[in-house]
Amino acid sequence: MSDTYQPDGTEDVPAAAVPPAEAIPALEVRDVTVRFAGLTALDSVSFTVAPGSVHAVIGPNGAGKSTCFNVLSGVYRATSGSVRFGTAELTALPPHRIAALGMARTFQNIALSPHLSVRDNLMLGRHRLTRAGFLSAGLRLPSARREAARHGERVAEIAAFVGLTGHLATPVGLLPYGVQKRIELARALCMEPRLLMLDEPVAGMNGGERREMAELIVAVRESLGISILLVEHDMGMVMRLADAVTVLDFGKRIADGPPELVQNDPEVIRAYLGATSETEEAST
Ligand SMILES: Nc1ncnc2c1ncn2[C@@H]1O[C@H](COP(=O)(O)OP(=O)(O)O)[C@@H](O)[C@H]1O
Ligand SMILES: [Mg+2]
Repeated sequence: MSDTYQPDGTEDVPAAAVPPAEAIPALEVRDVTVRFAGLTALDSVSFTVAPGSVHAVIGPNGAGKSTCFNVLSGVYRATSGSVRFGTAELTALPPHRIAALGMARTFQNIALSPHLSVRDNLMLGRHRLTRAGFLSAGLRLPSARREAARHGERVAEIAAFVGLTGHLATPVGLLPYGVQKRIELARALCMEPRLLMLDEPVAGMNGGERREMAELIVAVRESLGISILLVEHDMGMVMRLADAVTVLDFGKRIADGPPELVQNDPEVIRAYLGATSETEEAST
């Protein structure tokens, strides 16, 4: 018997809004078609991201990679087809509902607030997990202060993991491009995702920055055990990192499987050779 007064058992609501470690479900993309006026950007594309794997979607410019990404994150609506993350059907959900299922993304072009510090940009990444909300934080309620402190600690941990500790107080806009791309990845990690979606994470980077980013992606997979969907133009990078590769060309899936099989596929070689001039343009 307890002598603590608990009228209806609602007193003891835990302060933490961080979800418990949940099982990582598969992401199943089935027959997804996306049409824009007169153009089929994705044509009945299917693939499965296995739990805890690095899955790459590659293809020449205009192949439909970003469109695919935008459908998975709810930015574009599929014309037909289905996307399932575990038991959830995503194709009718808005972006914030998809994010709430634990799918976090980065953008092909940097989407950070350049005037805010690295720390503040990362704190914004924790918004989905913030129970008290920024209003009560603004009112300085003690519970909100405690919660902010807890999120601040997690932000510091993630910053350390991604190698950003020394930059936490710096406005994002003052940092080099390669560092900004890592901040984007850190911000996505701040959402405690179960699936991390990276759109061309090494685009525009020099060789050293590319290697660093590749190592970071491996470290994320190994230490967090989450699934990673990597949309990438650069085939070499993908072949070293990915467990499975889906190749798109003009909106169609032309190959799917382990990297060593895919990279020797004649149709894949043809698609990439046909796009050589574009590839060179894109990497300058
Ligand atoms: N919002 C849109 N409206 C019209 N066409 C689009 C839109 N987004 C992409 N496209 C077209 O869809 C095709 C695939 O584009 P995209 O998915 O960006 O390719 P990738 O990322 O592989 O380079 C391209 O022909 C592109 O012009
Ligand atoms: Mg793209």
